[in-house]
Amino acid sequence: MSEVLALIDKLSRDRSLTEEEYEIVVSGFSPAAASYAASLASSVRASYYGSAVFMRGLIEISNYCRNDCLYCGIRRSNRSCSRYRLSPSEILACAEKGYGLGFRTFVLQGGEDPYYTDAVLCSIVSSLKSSFPDCAVTLSMGERSHESYAALFAAGADRYLLRHETACPEHYARLHPSSMSFSNRMECLSSLRSIGYQVGCGFMVGSPYQDASCLARDLKFIESFRPDMCGIGPFVPHKDTPFGSFPAGSSDLTCYLLSLIRIIYPPVLLPATTALGTVDPMGREKGLKAGANVVMPNLSPVAVRSKYSLYDNKICTGEEASECVSCLGSRIKNAGYQLVVDRGDIRKEI
Ligand code: 5AD
Ligand code: FES
Repeated sequence: MSEVLALIDKLSRDRSLTEEEYEIVVSGFSPAAASYAASLASSVRASYYGSAVFMRGLIEISNYCRNDCLYCGIRRSNRSCSRYRLSPSEILACAEKGYGLGFRTFVLQGGEDPYYTDAVLCSIVSSLKSSFPDCAVTLSMGERSHESYAALFAAGADRYLLRHETACPEHYARLHPSSMSFSNRMECLSSLRSIGYQVGCGFMVGSPYQDASCLARDLKFIESFRPDMCGIGPFVPHKDTPFGSFPAGSSDLTCYLLSLIRIIYPPVLLPATTALGTVDPMGREKGLKAGANVVMPNLSPVAVRSKYSLYDNKICTGEEASECVSCLGSRIKNAGYQLVVDRGDIRKEI
């Protein structure tokens, strides 16, 4: 057995490797290693979740952003981005439509838009929770203060997604302007955890300047943080950003990493992301086969879809939510899984 396969075996026994071992596993990526990792990941995923795939209704509430991440199409320096924000009643209307389609989790995602003060956002969260008491509300609204996260949790938010983006501080500094800091990102994640949220972290695969040692640190971070959710998808260039001419990340490497993350922390909720479906037409199916168990179709109004453009050529920007759900439902079925109507909470026990 090769060194890499032996390390993957060790990982599935111990759920832990050293950073050096993770680096060997990442740089030893090959079709054989990927299919070995995928088979272990699939069986452990099946023991926690069977063939169920959870869906989350993504509502992209605003593309205004005070930040300037070098990779992101809605960064504040992008003058070609046409800005919008949804009103509370538009957000509720998206959720209403989603509820009818079987969604039991709504994810409010947006740029760091100062319009969404705690008062505004808390009132949206509490109206969603009172209109749909059997649903989970997830927020993905970037870095806020501990007090703000606590207020939103008190208003009823259940989960928070904040990708760490990279667990390597030097790499973090090459992806972000100096006004943003790795340490604040990590502090936000620990605040969220201490308040009681189900927390999601995550990173892009193939982002500029990323190497195997960065990815090894990401895996080690995931091993120690044990996130409830982990969003990973390939980097996809956006033409109006400083990274517009960098190549996109690989879907095969993304799938390999999905498998490794599933093996590291078996109960983790792992989405097959839209970015994965963007770089590879069968990307989301491949992601599920590699160990993912969540999909996040878009519930945003079609009129604003193409404006929420984090990267170029994003799929599903022209489809109505109902079209996406039926398309995804049949794709998932063909891949051997089943889209379920469920909040999709983490199952920490088999
Ligand atoms: N390619 C892929 N993913 C991106 N994101 C932002 N810009 C890009 C891009 N160009 C991801 C970031 C962010 C999440 C909402 O989308 O990881 O946290
Ligand atoms: Fe959106 Fe297929 S999932 S059109």
